[in-house]
Amino acid sequence: MLKVKPVSAERLPELLRCMPKAELHMHIEGSLEPELMFALGQRNGISMAYPDIDSLRRAYVFDNLQDFLDIYHAGTLVLRTEQDFYDMTHAYLARAAADNVLHAEIFFDTQTHTGHGVSVDVVINGLHRACIDAHAEFGMSASLILCFLRHLSEQEAFECLEQALPYRDKLVGVGLASSEMGHPPEKFARVFARARELGLRLVAHAGEEGPPAYIWSALDVLKVERIDHGVQAMKDPALMARLVQDRIPLTVCPLSNLKLRVFPNLAGHNLARMLDAGIVATVNSDDPAYFGGYINENFTQTFAALGLGAQHAYQLARNSFEASFIDEALKRQYIDRLAVTFETFE
Ligand code: HPA
Ligand code: ZN
Repeated sequence: MLKVKPVSAERLPELLRCMPKAELHMHIEGSLEPELMFALGQRNGISMAYPDIDSLRRAYVFDNLQDFLDIYHAGTLVLRTEQDFYDMTHAYLARAAADNVLHAEIFFDTQTHTGHGVSVDVVINGLHRACIDAHAEFGMSASLILCFLRHLSEQEAFECLEQALPYRDKLVGVGLASSEMGHPPEKFARVFARARELGLRLVAHAGEEGPPAYIWSALDVLKVERIDHGVQAMKDPALMARLVQDRIPLTVCPLSNLKLRVFPNLAGHNLARMLDAGIVATVNSDDPAYFGGYINENFTQTFAALGLGAQHAYQLARNSFEASFIDEALKRQYIDRLAVTFETFE
């Protein structure tokens, strides 16, 4: 591991912003800013539940995950056409590129949209075209992870996978999102087994609000390669040992955890303790339009609150590339660029 030079507290935010990084946990529907939401609503002749952008933003106060999911789902009603999905994804990728994200793995779901009468091809083609264009426009790579909604049935998840099969080559993997409590990973054991047979990479949200048992079953029953959130793992020393030993990455989202009251404040977040324990943690934005910041805000606010330094920054950025689903050659290329940034930063 590269031993990095210390960086002063004043210069650290600049280093965090300019360092190359990958973002591995963000829901594209959660990047829909109120401005674009209102513009799409107008374009599609959809009346909005809030009279203006400011009153919508004021509604972004949540007590827990479910509170957020209710508002988030209402926001997705403006998405109707392939161009809408393209515009939303292009806006996120432009924003991510500005934060020096070299690679993004984007969560999306189709069940929300098919539930509103929008077909799977509209969703996937819009997202995929934006990923292709981002490569040409911003020089970044991006891939798509289809999330099943865990509050819906196993049967519905199978139908979702079936409908996505014609677009198999546009997906890198599948995940599991939405209301965690009462919907343990094992509910989706057979769907994940099928996705695995199809060669899709596997991830799942687990241990955001739910108990360590959900993380165990995501690993042992679903056989996922990464855990999304996973912050409740610290309650279980045997689980921590497993995550360290098998180098299972956790995609941590500090501002999300703050806004959904998983931790009372950022200073109480366990990210630093996870790194100290040897966990392959990464920093991500989850739903940046709702949680008060894109990936660089997650880095700068968390580093300030926890007193983290340049070595942690290098570790987290390196982890983000190591934990990604890009091929080894590109991984090495990105990690080399990361090292150059740290070696030349003054
Ligand atoms: N958790 C679960 N489901 C989600 C989230 C989240 O943080 N964001 C969007 N869907
Ligand atoms: Zn999430």
